[in-house]
Amino acid sequence: MAAPALKPLPETSYQPTPAQADALARIKVVVGARGWTTNTEEMRPHLIEWRGHYQGRAQMVVRPANTAEVADVVRICAEALLPIVPQGGNTSMCGGSVPLEAGEEIVLSLARMNQVRAIDPANHTMIVEAGCVLQTIQGVASEADRYFPLSLAAEGSCMIGGNLSTNAGGTNVLRYGNARELVLGLEVVLPDGRVWDGLLGLRKDNTGYDLKQLFLGAEGTLGIITAAVLKLFPKPRAIHAAFCAVRDVPAAMELLGRARGQSGDRVETFELISRLVIDLILKHIPATHDPLAARHDHYVLLELATAAEDDDGLRDSFEAILATAMEDGLVLDAALAQSEQQRQAFWALRENGSESQKLEGASIKHDISVPVSAIPDFYEDAWNAVLEIEPKARLVAFGHAGDGNLHYNIAEPVGGDRAAFLEKWGAISAAVHDTVHAYHGSISAEHGIGQLKREEMTRYKSEVELDVMKTIKAALDPMGLMNPGKVI
Ligand code: FAD
Ligand code: MLT
Ligand code: ZN
Repeated sequence: MAAPALKPLPETSYQPTPAQADALARIKVVVGARGWTTNTEEMRPHLIEWRGHYQGRAQMVVRPANTAEVADVVRICAEALLPIVPQGGNTSMCGGSVPLEAGEEIVLSLARMNQVRAIDPANHTMIVEAGCVLQTIQGVASEADRYFPLSLAAEGSCMIGGNLSTNAGGTNVLRYGNARELVLGLEVVLPDGRVWDGLLGLRKDNTGYDLKQLFLGAEGTLGIITAAVLKLFPKPRAIHAAFCAVRDVPAAMELLGRARGQSGDRVETFELISRLVIDLILKHIPATHDPLAARHDHYVLLELATAAEDDDGLRDSFEAILATAMEDGLVLDAALAQSEQQRQAFWALRENGSESQKLEGASIKHDISVPVSAIPDFYEDAWNAVLEIEPKARLVAFGHAGDGNLHYNIAEPVGGDRAAFLEKWGAISAAVHDTVHAYHGSISAEHGIGQLKREEMTRYKSEVELDVMKTIKAALDPMGLMNPGKVI
């Protein structure tokens, strides 16, 4: 994914302290010539986030080659009070992976730590370094006849250290869980430079606190993940996909319950897609096609999968589920993929949601979750609340409805005044998030907090939760050097 062009920032006034200047020189020696840069063009992709909303400055981009180098760099930074932004593929959607404008930090990229250290098919595990690209990990697992189920549209550029640090979700959570559930062990460089080697491939270990959970989803604020033991699964032998037009959102959720029950809980993916998403994809993404003849307001991309060699009657079961759902008026039309190519064409209509929205113009994104049972009511209530603020707003809703997670994004009105629309950002987000809160949901289901939702989070978390988070941060990173300005 190409980084957007840098915008001019006001002249930097930051001057490194003498200790920081000395630290930068020592870091260059630790990582060697290939391991650092201050060149503007080389630093550019590390300083701006995917949508171009957040852009910062850094004193240097450092790319250590191994855990020992990461530890040395972090120790030097701790001694000199030099703050660090850990970075993987820089596909964060909340400004978590880029430095602040002030320019005091270094970016520590894990990109050179990209080795698969070991794979143990019998234990269904593999040990990977933080800079491995997610798609590479999926491929290595597949070559060993195993399956690593984490899957998201950014998988060609995001890295496993970033995935674990954001507790990424994606399209297979319903069956296999979030990134957090796919990890057995971690290796972490702590903010003082010590290395915690927790690379155990155990499914049972009750020896005290589960330390790895602290770093999973911490967005680089508590330490740097350098390697992980990942859980693998038997490879699915058959995956059947259907692109279904549903009567409405309640019908979609009824379909989910039925598909889970009637397939023996073999639903792999359940993604809701509103019509406007399809329109934007057909408009902006070449070689995409509407799989159904007529237009409908809502669609579901539904997949059932089995690891059984003989399909175990899954295809027949899928056809029966769709037939009954059509008879009952839940599904209005459906296309069941007849080939892998057709299945991939369905996915092109799902995975390009973010890209097409970016190309369409301004949008106010909400990555929310509510209990699965509350999705229909939330969907309607939030929309009514948004319309009160911007009657011409357009709803671009899609996402992992099977997990209770929707990307409930509000696009600018056609031909409207962009600046006037963006001025309503705070009010629109508050309306959506207040509705989420009323349904006991979360304002960040999978993308994290970063800079984007740091203040917003304090509106919805209790004093107790915020206090415990601050206590943990202070215990591990008393100087506040790990990814400052993010999360808390
Ligand atoms: P980065 O963006 O580089 O970093 C993310 C955060 O983790 C930052 O706070 C950073 O400081 C920290 N970090 C990175 N590496 C480390 C490390 N080794 N140790 C400690 N901290 C670290 N997300 C989903 O959950 N589900 C989706 O379906 C999804 N779809 C997406 C689709 C598109 C098109 C795009 C652009 C993004 C999508 N995302 C999605 C968001 C993003 O891809 C994920 O958050 C991803 O996990 C980030 O990985 P990364 O390597 O790019 O991390
Ligand atoms: C996705 O599921 O495609 C991303 O998480 C979406 C987004 O909010 O752009
Ligand atoms: Zn998503």
